[in-house]
Amino acid sequence: MFVGGYVSAAGLGLTCPDWPLCPNGLLPDDEYFIEWMHRLIAATTGALIIATTVGAWISKDSYLKIKITSALATVFVITQITLGALVIDMKLHAVLVAIHLGIGVLLFAMVLLTTLFAFRMGKQKSIETKA
Ligand code: HEM
Repeated sequence: MFVGGYVSAAGLGLTCPDWPLCPNGLLPDDEYFIEWMHRLIAATTGALIIATTVGAWISKDSYLKIKITSALATVFVITQITLGALVIDMKLHAVLVAIHLGIGVLLFAMVLLTTLFAFRMGKQKSIETKA
């Protein structure tokens, strides 16, 4: 979100006109380095969120709450990455950029809740093991 805010404020949104890769393929270029970083961080975030959701659903110890928040985070991150393509395709249409920001906030909220639930779950499990 931080890098996205910079991309937007610095007017760098259309420096990389293709999707999903920039014209240089997987490699960065001075011309679109910041936008390339935004996509690299988005891809890494997406992979970590999907892995967290898979972990939450296959673990026998997970609570329903953590399964729901992590699944929602996966839905939002996939929507967000797809929306990124539309934002570029529609040449930074204001409505789409606003939705991109809104989904970013929802995504952040789900990731934060998942983390808080994971800490709470860890604490309760350690109390149960001690008792
Ligand atoms: C985890 C995934 C992502 C998150 C959380 C995210 C978040 C954000 C945020 C917060 C902004 C600033 C919006 C504003 O200031 O109104 C932004 C801007 C932008 N994002 Fe993303 N983004 C993600 C993925 C992507 C992807 C995959 C693409 C494209 C392939 C993309 C393309 C853009 C563009 C072009 C802008 C600049 C819009 C403008 O110039 O006004 N984003 N992003």
